[in-house]
Amino acid sequence: MANKLDRISFGKIVQIRERLLKTQATGKKVYRFESGDPSFSVSDQVINAIRQAAETGKTHYIPNDGIPELKKELQLKLETKNKIKLPSSDYIYVTNGAMHALYLVWQCLLSPGDEVIVPDPMWTEAVENIRLADATPVQVILSHEDGYRYDPKKIAAKISAKTKAIFVNSPHNPTGSVASRETLLEIMELAKQHNLFIVTDEAYEDVVYDVKHSSIAALAQEKYQGAEGEALQRKIISIYSFSKSYAMSGLRVGYLVTLDDSVRERISKLLRCTINGVNSIAQWAAIAALRTPIDHLEGMKKEYRERRKLMLNALTGIPGLHPFAPDGAFYLWCKVDPKLYQRLGVKNADEVSNALAEKGIGSAPGDSFGIHCHDAIRFAYSCATPMVIEGTTELARFFGK
Ligand SMILES: Cc1ncc(COP(=O)(O)O)c(C=O)c1O
Repeated sequence: MANKLDRISFGKIVQIRERLLKTQATGKKVYRFESGDPSFSVSDQVINAIRQAAETGKTHYIPNDGIPELKKELQLKLETKNKIKLPSSDYIYVTNGAMHALYLVWQCLLSPGDEVIVPDPMWTEAVENIRLADATPVQVILSHEDGYRYDPKKIAAKISAKTKAIFVNSPHNPTGSVASRETLLEIMELAKQHNLFIVTDEAYEDVVYDVKHSSIAALAQEKYQGAEGEALQRKIISIYSFSKSYAMSGLRVGYLVTLDDSVRERISKLLRCTINGVNSIAQWAAIAALRTPIDHLEGMKKEYRERRKLMLNALTGIPGLHPFAPDGAFYLWCKVDPKLYQRLGVKNADEVSNALAEKGIGSAPGDSFGIHCHDAIRFAYSCATPMVIEGTTELARFFGK
C-alpha cells in the first residue's frame, strides 16, 4: 500500500551517525563532524529552572500554543533583539523545535500542487517537509562562485502561477552563508509583487561571526507602513529555535510567528492534534535561557570561531577541495572537484564520505542537501573543541595534506 512517507528519504546524515555510533561502541575513536549538535552544556540558570519546574508541579497540561510566561518573554525577545514588534504574544506559537515549526507551517500553508522556492543546497528536512505537505520544492542553485548567496534574480526566474512561498534560511545550513539586508529586501519585494508568503528559518540567528543577522519581518516593518506594511507582514512567517542559540537541542523548543489569521487558526488545530503543547518543563527552561546573561552565548560563539579557524586551516590548500569560509552557523561546506576523486581513488563525494566514516570521521555528502550539489561535502564543527583539534588533524592526513 503506497503512502506519501515512502517518498521521504531516511537521511544520509542519520545513517552516517548510526555507523559512527556503532564504531564508537567498539571502543574506537570517532570524530562527530556529521551532525550539527552544539557540544555545550546548558547554562546553570536552565538547569535550575528545570529542577524548579519539576519540584513545583509544573508537570500538567499546558496551553497548546505555549505557556503565557514564555510567550510574553518571547514577545520581548522578538521586539528587543529581532526588532519585530507584535500587537501581542498571541501571534507566537511554541513548537517542538524549529523542525516541528516547519512541519506545521508547510501543512497549514500548502495544498497539493503548490510550489515553494528553496535554496539548493538546503538542510534536507526543510525540503522534505514541503514534500510531506504534497507540494513541490523548486530549487534555486546557490553557487560557490557567488559565495552561496541567495540571488533574487534567480528566484524571480522560478516564480510560476503555482508558487505559494519563498523559503529563506539565513544563516544557511549547510553553507554558512548569511544573506545581506539588501538581498532580503529584494526577496521581500519579489514576494510583495507576486503576493507570496516568505517562510524564514532563523534557527542560527545567534551563530554569526563578523556579520549581522537581519530578520525579514523586522525589515518589512522598517520599510513598509500602513495597510501595505500590514499586508506584507501577514505574508511573513518567521521560525526560531532554542537548539543552536542555547545548546538546548534535546529539550526540543522552537517557535514560529505569524500574523495571518487563517494560518493561525490552522496552526492551533494542528498543534492540538499533534503535540497538544511542548513539554512544560522544557518551556520553563526556555524562559531561563532567554534570561541567561549574554556571556553564555558569547562564550559559545568564541569557541565556534576557534573551531572554524581550525577546520579552515586543516582543509585549505588541498588540491580538489574548496572550502567556503562561513559567516554563520557551524559548518564547513567544501566544493569537491574530480581531481580529488582521482587522487583518493573514489567516484564521488558519497564515496569520500564513506571512506571517511571507515576511518571514524563523520561528514555529510553534498547530495544529502539537494539535487544540484553532488560534488560537495559538509563538515560540522559543533562537537567539542578537543575533538575538532584531533579530528581536523586526521582529516588533513586523510586528504594527504
Ligand atoms: C536550518 C535549520 N532549521 C531548523 C533546524 C531544526 O532545529 P530544531 O532542533 O529546533 O528542530 C535545523 C537543525 O539542524 C536547521 O539546520
